[in-house]
Amino acid sequence: MYVDVGCDHGGLPLTLLARGVAAAVIGVDVNAAPCAVARENARRLGMPLDVRKGDGLAVVEGHVAVVSLCGVGSGTVVGVLERAMGRAGAVVAQPNDNARLLRGWAQESGWVVEHERGVYDRGRYFNVVVLVPGAAGAADEVELTWGVSAQREPDALRKRLTQEVARLRALPGRGGELALVESAQQRLADAGRADPA
Ligand SMILES: C[S@@+](CC[C@H](N)C(=O)[O-])C[C@H]1O[C@@H](n2cnc3c(N)ncnc32)[C@H](O)[C@@H]1O
Repeated sequence: MYVDVGCDHGGLPLTLLARGVAAAVIGVDVNAAPCAVARENARRLGMPLDVRKGDGLAVVEGHVAVVSLCGVGSGTVVGVLERAMGRAGAVVAQPNDNARLLRGWAQESGWVVEHERGVYDRGRYFNVVVLVPGAAGAADEVELTWGVSAQREPDALRKRLTQEVARLRALPGRGGELALVESAQQRLADAGRADPA
């Protein structure tokens, strides 16, 4: 079973159904108005989207193979996963804020970052983090802040780091943050050199 938490108007779950990525999807939203719009969109498109109003996985029974949480803060992602108490098999999260909180919580809570992908959309950088249950070695601050080593297709992150270096160099007293970003750049460059592809 695939559950999209924070489904809003149903854009993501309806796309997954339309593309055949998932055969059955439950969309959950804590607010009634987006649920009503999602139901109407599903009806209009003839898609079997099951829309439920509620908080996270509280309105879904049993084990959930994949849960997505997109366009919400890292704190919301963490809260939903903590309340789900181990019922999710994998998590696809696109936090709206810095994913540092999510990565830090994950490594202390029995989740491993399986992979990440940075994406630019209309000039804004978004980060998608895929978590699976497990344990990994402790990540350092560069990794927790920027998620370098798990990146697939690192071009977007490379661009984001370049922009961040330029921004921080223009600001006084930001040497610590700048050093972190430059370390992430170096790590990405080293990974690229080591990649036989
Ligand atoms: C900014 S929208 C993002 C919509 C969509 N996921 C996207 O990425 O475009 C965030 C949605 O999450 C819902 N939401 C926030 N916290 C939630 C929770 N704990 N459980 C269910 N829905 C939640 C909000 O009502 C809102 O519709």
